[in-house]
Amino acid sequence: MLLSFFCFDFFCILTKVFSYIAEQNHSSTDIPLNKIWNQHGSIIAGGNGKGNGSNQLSAPSGICVDTDDQTVYIADTGNDRIIKWEYNATYGKVVAGGNRKGNQIDQLNGPKVVIIDKNDDSLVICDYGNKRIVRWPRENGAVGQTIIDDISCTGLAIDNNGDLYVSDDKYHTVRRWKKGEINGTIVAGKNGQGVDLNQLNSPNTIFVDQNYSIYVSDTRNNRVMKWMKSAAEGIVVAGRYDKENDLAELSSPVGMTVDHFGNIYVVDARNRRIMYWSPYATEGKIAVAANEKEAHSKHLSNPFGLALDRQYNLYVSDFWNDRVQKFCIVSDGN
Ligand SMILES: *[C@@H]1O[C@H](CO)[C@@H](O)[C@H](O)[C@H]1NC(C)=O
Ligand SMILES: *[C@@H]1O[C@H](CO)[C@@H](O)[C@H](O)[C@H]1NC(C)=O
Ligand SMILES: *[C@@H]1O[C@H](CO)[C@@H](O)[C@H](O)[C@H]1NC(C)=O
Ligand SMILES: *[C@@H]1O[C@H](CO)[C@@H](O)[C@H](O)[C@H]1NC(C)=O
Ligand SMILES: *[C@@H]1O[C@H](CO)[C@@H](O)[C@H](O)[C@H]1NC(C)=O
Repeated sequence: MLLSFFCFDFFCILTKVFSYIAEQNHSSTDIPLNKIWNQHGSIIAGGNGKGNGSNQLSAPSGICVDTDDQTVYIADTGNDRIIKWEYNATYGKVVAGGNRKGNQIDQLNGPKVVIIDKNDDSLVICDYGNKRIVRWPRENGAVGQTIIDDISCTGLAIDNNGDLYVSDDKYHTVRRWKKGEINGTIVAGKNGQGVDLNQLNSPNTIFVDQNYSIYVSDTRNNRVMKWMKSAAEGIVVAGRYDKENDLAELSSPVGMTVDHFGNIYVVDARNRRIMYWSPYATEGKIAVAANEKEAHSKHLSNPFGLALDRQYNLYVSDFWNDRVQKFCIVSDGN
């Protein structure tokens, strides 16, 4: 089915034609999934130089999208604030921090991750520089509340019971907090920093599916792991090391998300591209690649954070260019 009507522009239509030709070259044995995205992004937030104005960003990292209305929440790391950008807005609204760098209850220090907790209409934030996790009201919150202290948080997720999952780059674990728990429970990476299947090395983004499986971008191991509920070790689901095959490798995966079918979308940061892997695939496919020759502002540049909406449009934070781009889906491959 063609989805260009979601994102109606000239390049979407052009991409569709060329991608048909490109598809003919795939020879993978996995479930054939040939989603196609426009390689020209549109800047949906920032893109007006580095700064703290309401139409600017400074080193944005983690992002999330409210799939109900396509509002994007951005961890505007360099500005020590969380800013939200409504669909098609030309400027954002600060929803947390923005009161200079600091550790007071109305301040943040280099926030790296933000997620929406729809259970109580709040935002949960990795306040990385303060080594704490804070909860802010989603609207008009003047102050946040520290919910977990003394943690070098790099990723957050909430499951359908409202349990909170946190990855950290100090102990190289993912921990889960049920409501009221004080210390949490390690649910992935119980064996210290390392490369074995029961270890992680600088875990970053996490995602928890309906079955409570945890997906984690295991940045310094250049792979994405899946830990089934209560498993003693993980399974490599993306980034199977294979020198002969560039599509099988990842290099510093960071932003990552998973759709209802278990397809994994991941920022392959050092290769400057977005990959997607279907379940059981032995190699990934390129969703969006940086264009070296044509360093045009519309192209992917230095991706970090990643989010997906219901139509499979991709949202990518461009850390070094102080902007968030959207790459429209042109065809979902069916
Ligand atoms: C398909 O593969 C052939 C041979 O490897 C290559 O010459 C051609 O450029 C490829 N076509 C596309 C559209 O990628
Ligand atoms: C988005 O904004 C542009 C420019 O302000 C406007 O022309 C367009 O109609 C808007 N689109 C939607 C769907 O709101
Ligand atoms: C925003 O930037 C301006 C200019 O650099 C600076 O004077 C101001 O203090 C900044 N505001 C905040 C809240 O950081
Ligand atoms: C939490 O961890 C601390 C330090 O390891 C320990 O002293 C305390 O007993 C733990 N609390 C609970 C409720 O497990
Ligand atoms: C959850 O588990 C069920 C039963 O094993 C399976 O059919 C389903 O595909 C799983 N869902 C996901 C998202 O993995």
